[in-house]
Amino acid sequence: MQTDIGNNLTRAIELLTNNQVVAVPTETVYGLAGNATSPTAIQAIFKVKNRPSWNPLIVHVPHFQAVFPYISELPDKAKLLADAFWPGPLTLLLPGNGVLPGAVNNYLPKVAFRVPAHPVMQALLQQLPFPLAAPSANVYKRISPTTAAHVYKSLAGKIPYILDGGNCGYGIESTVVGFDTAGQPVVYRQGIITLQALEAVTGCPVLLPEKDAAKASPGMATVHYAPFTPLQLVLQAAPIAAEAPARSGFLCFSRPVQGHPLQHQFVLSTQGDLHEAAANLYRGLHYLDELNLDIIFAELLPDTGVGAAANDRLQRAAAMYQSQAATLITT
Ligand code: TXA
Ligand code: MG
Repeated sequence: MQTDIGNNLTRAIELLTNNQVVAVPTETVYGLAGNATSPTAIQAIFKVKNRPSWNPLIVHVPHFQAVFPYISELPDKAKLLADAFWPGPLTLLLPGNGVLPGAVNNYLPKVAFRVPAHPVMQALLQQLPFPLAAPSANVYKRISPTTAAHVYKSLAGKIPYILDGGNCGYGIESTVVGFDTAGQPVVYRQGIITLQALEAVTGCPVLLPEKDAAKASPGMATVHYAPFTPLQLVLQAAPIAAEAPARSGFLCFSRPVQGHPLQHQFVLSTQGDLHEAAANLYRGLHYLDELNLDIIFAELLPDTGVGAAANDRLQRAAAMYQSQAATLITT
């Protein structure tokens, strides 16, 4: 299948209306979108992404009111959060009413909803008579895409069209928030909307899931977002540079490592700004991975606010390589 990249909204609408999947821009990462009301389109998303069917999808709607046809009730704190952060990088887990096909959320009681803010995605949703199911537009477990070129690299030949909306402004996936039986917010995935911001709006402490969270939010897999090159996390890159193998890459927070080839390094934010660093995180990983080096060292960011969300992604990206990276360092 030929994969085109362009900004033709009409073509995207035509394909989506015919149950095809299309990569779409959002303010977080690119999504792999299909008609959320069509079992055929949902099946196509799982197939293209090579994603197991037990890992549920997020349903994207144009505005808050558009969730009501698909839910049985709205927790009070969910309303507060939707009013404060939609459109934006927040996903809410809400009780479904069975109208959407069960395949979209693996027949779980909750369905994930998000109102994205990206103008191209907004225009698309406003012109479609159905919501869009969309996971991130990467092959399962691999680095998420923040440009149309990233999507092309991972899905060329598998999808007909990539709707190009430029670089994703936030660069990491939405914050996923559910509610326990008492209506308290629980954060299943950290993101741009920080725990502090959620607490400020809901007026109560937000909970982090228990250790067996994988059951509550199946996508919280330890291994995720991984580059093909072994990845090792470090607190600071500079001290290890002297002993690092010659063909090492460095993903640095604010400053490059002295004495190491600059083309093998990617600095996330020269200003030391956490939002800018998060926005560049996947782009930096894609860049270094394409160099086919022996190992990538990535500096952890200051673990506050958006830095914590970015560190969560780095930890999952490195999980696959923990033992391999250790061997490379010591030999
Ligand atoms: O920013 C984003 O959220 C992007 C853009 C495209 O909107 N989408 C995204 O989708 O990151 P995905 O599929 O890569 O991640 C969705 C996360 C997964 O961790 C999944 O397990 C969780 O949301 N999730 C979805 N539905 C759920 C449900 N019903 N119950 C629990 N967790 C759910
Ligand atoms: Mg994903």
